[in-house]
Amino acid sequence: MMQFPKIIQGGMGVGVSNWRLANAVSKLGQLGVVSGTALDSLFVRRLADGDKGGDMRRGLDAFPFPEMAKRIWDEYFIPGGKSAGTPYTIAPMHQRRDIRKVVELCIVSNFVEVFLAREGHKNPVGINFLEKVQMPHLSSIYGAMLAGVGYVLMGAGIPLHIPGVMDALSVNHPAEYKLSVTGAVQGQDTAMLFDPADYAEGPLPILDRPRFLAIVSSNTLATTMLRRASGRVDGFIIESPTAGGHNAPPRGKLQLNADGEPVYGERDQVDVAGLRALGAPFWLAGGYGNAEKVREALDQGAAGVQVGTAFAFTRESALRPDLKASLLAKAVAGTGEVFTDPLASPTGFPFKVAQVQGSYSDPEVAAKRTRVCDLGYLREPYAAPDGTIGYRCAAEPVANYVSKGGKVEETVGRKCLCNALMANIGHQQTRKDGFVEPALVTVGDDLNTVAQFLAPGRASYSAADVVESLLSLTERTSAPEPAEPILAHA
Ligand SMILES: Cc1cc2nc3c(=O)[nH]c(=O)nc-3n(C[C@H](O)[C@H](O)[C@H](O)COP(=O)(O)O)c2cc1C
Repeated sequence: MMQFPKIIQGGMGVGVSNWRLANAVSKLGQLGVVSGTALDSLFVRRLADGDKGGDMRRGLDAFPFPEMAKRIWDEYFIPGGKSAGTPYTIAPMHQRRDIRKVVELCIVSNFVEVFLAREGHKNPVGINFLEKVQMPHLSSIYGAMLAGVGYVLMGAGIPLHIPGVMDALSVNHPAEYKLSVTGAVQGQDTAMLFDPADYAEGPLPILDRPRFLAIVSSNTLATTMLRRASGRVDGFIIESPTAGGHNAPPRGKLQLNADGEPVYGERDQVDVAGLRALGAPFWLAGGYGNAEKVREALDQGAAGVQVGTAFAFTRESALRPDLKASLLAKAVAGTGEVFTDPLASPTGFPFKVAQVQGSYSDPEVAAKRTRVCDLGYLREPYAAPDGTIGYRCAAEPVANYVSKGGKVEETVGRKCLCNALMANIGHQQTRKDGFVEPALVTVGDDLNTVAQFLAPGRASYSAADVVESLLSLTERTSAPEPAEPILAHA
């Protein structure tokens, strides 16, 4: 009988929860989750850095269509790595109808990440996507499915149409996904299409349909997913606003506290009894990174918990060693500070930012950065007056944004998360003028509690230390599956 994990190591983008971390967690019998966000650009940078250790090469060698893998290697691999201070090559940005080369890069990079996370054990591995980053969805999901991904987890939006996409792709049918286009007129064609047959360079394998877990912040959203999703929803991650990464905005009119952070109230509390009544398994997230909270979640009827912050500081995570060390030192001293920034993310969702001197959280550093948009994952598709679809990001140069119909007030306080999150994992871009893109670390409100995982005299800890500690007050076995399958359209 398939079992559910008690601990889900949450997806952490970009690349913080990489294949190495997910592999370590899944090997321990819990669910390791790779971040699927911007994997194509990350892959390009790993190859540009010379693929030290040969892991990307090993993943490419396992890809079912060798010619496609070779095209990507030939285009992006730099033997020995690019010289320090040289800018990284940039892959073309996504659009509704991606050019073939962009689709291939997405398929292959998602395949490799999942393949490596699955190496050396037989347990399931998950992949996490943000619903808001829509344009790479179809090719990314297909690449992950080609590698046998066991779970797809998606939040930051309402992923109603993803279950049906996975149903179609598993049997090699074309998949369609309607892009959200601001200002689209009725009848405007906004569909993205992906047909596996267009990319097959050999027989198309029938693929397992991964389980789908929707990451939501309320009972209403969970109910909506069960009622209206285009296919089976296998469970929920219920994420509270203390969690690292993006948070759901508070219900009702946005109010800020004296420090400028969104104020959450009673209406933002989840009704756990109501969730249980839905009958789908659920995992609680946001501040569940200790044994007592895991016990509490299980006692409330959760299948388990999803934890991010505690895993972000493990030896296996890809967070840059200097950032890891400085924040761990603050956690030990109890002086780590986290600001829930209502403006930083171009998505418009609140975004948690660890305060690190010399990083993008530092106003002086932020002021020195000239706006540029060259990765473009958070661009918002909009209906241009000439009937085409345009793309704009509130963190791009203000004049460009405004010339595309964006409002100037929307640009205030926005930060380039695409470049910053690449910098968080050591793949920071160097500009032609020598400017190095700064990091912007996201963590949960519970940053300081990660000190609990450090054994006396130790300066680091592993994924196994976290898993062992979290499960220390509970049985180590996994939760059994419910007897009845959970059906959408209930
Ligand atoms: C560094 C970091 C990056 C994150 N990135 C993502 C992401 O890309 N997608 C996502 O759904 N959640 C993301 N999260 C949220 C985690 O998956 C998880 O739900 C959350 O961290 C749980 O709360 P905790 O931080 O209190 O453990 C991120 C969290 C952290 C700490």
